[in-house]
Amino acid sequence: MKHKVSEMLNMLEQEHIVKHLKSLSEEEQLEMVSHIESLDFSVLNAGDSEEKRGKFEPLFATTLSDIAKNHERYTEAGLKAIREGKVGAVLLAGGQGSRLGFDHPKGMYNIGVNKELYIFECLINNLLDVVKEAGAWVPLFIMTSADNNKETREFFEEHNYFGYSSDNVWFFVQEQLPTVDTNGKLMLSGKGRIAMAPNGNGGWYASMAKTGMLKIVQNAHIEWLNVFAVDNVLQRIADPCFVGAVIESGKVSGAKVVAKADAEEKVGVLCLEDGRPSIVEYYEMTDEMLHSREADGTLSYNYGVILNYLFRVDKLNNTLSVKLPLHRAFKKLKYMTNEGEIITPTEPNAYKFETLALDMVKLQDDCLAYEVDRNKEFAPVKNKTGVDSVDTARELLKANGVEL
Ligand code: UTP
Repeated sequence: MKHKVSEMLNMLEQEHIVKHLKSLSEEEQLEMVSHIESLDFSVLNAGDSEEKRGKFEPLFATTLSDIAKNHERYTEAGLKAIREGKVGAVLLAGGQGSRLGFDHPKGMYNIGVNKELYIFECLINNLLDVVKEAGAWVPLFIMTSADNNKETREFFEEHNYFGYSSDNVWFFVQEQLPTVDTNGKLMLSGKGRIAMAPNGNGGWYASMAKTGMLKIVQNAHIEWLNVFAVDNVLQRIADPCFVGAVIESGKVSGAKVVAKADAEEKVGVLCLEDGRPSIVEYYEMTDEMLHSREADGTLSYNYGVILNYLFRVDKLNNTLSVKLPLHRAFKKLKYMTNEGEIITPTEPNAYKFETLALDMVKLQDDCLAYEVDRNKEFAPVKNKTGVDSVDTARELLKANGVEL
């Protein structure tokens, strides 16, 4: 068995791992072999070829003023669905948050100034607003990673779920994939262990299926799932007006979007690709696409996504058999050298492989682009300082009357 694994690793040009394997005791070797046999090595061929894109066209949004005109009606429709238990929320909290440089789950970051206010707490507070308005709990599924699950769970326990009902919260763990260095070589995280990283936020529904969460969704007759990122502290979750607007539109999905600050803003834009909803990244857009305007002066590709989507569960089920594309992301990853030294890099050093939630949009028949005011709903915490940072998020929280 050891021999077979070594042969396979040699074929994959991972001789350094064979060398490491041979340096282990008999028992450790057996353990490492079974660890290796459980890994998905398809990543070793992934991410090199550019994904072939189709024909892009603009997708127009339901704008702030359209929404204002119908606000009451949409909100009532959304509240009704929430009261009927048809809406669940999925918090994507399995990321490594490497840009923030915080050694715990990002949601544990204290964004308060004069008092403690954790990112998780901000999100729960926002969701509690809806719970109060609807007079019903929204089932909340929290996706964690193998690395941060325990700490996340314990943090929620210690803080009494920040006032949420623990009966309505479920944690599940996403899958991991091996990582490689800049030469495409597998890395070690420790003795007998290949370095792994969470497999991106695109696998959330598949992970819900694997971990039994879909049974809960099914038993509770949840029809819509609102999936959102951990790092936007102004995030409105299960927003009744958004839910109602999507339901009324008759579309099978919805995406919260913000108007771009300017033509060159580096955001992925919701559009149509070969007639289906899709997200085009800023670096994939031609100059013409970036600057093209409609008759009323708005940019044709104007609406950036903020990782807040509403999906219809029956349609999500159809996506379970689809293999999402793997993207490579260059990140800082702690590893062990062949000599056994643990290195914590200060600069990105490794490629991790991720599927992306935005690629699930493409699998939907249609998608309602729902505009929100970025000053009220978009305060991402990606970095410690500068753009999309703790500093900018604090300013936005204050501007929205959140006490820090
Ligand atoms: P990001 O793309 O910002 O990735 O995640 P990240 O790993 O958290 O942060 P950096 O790039 O290392 O600084 C966007 C959202 O997707 C979640 C994150 O927790 C965040 O809510 N995510 C990301 C996952 O749940 N799993 C992943 O594997 C990656």
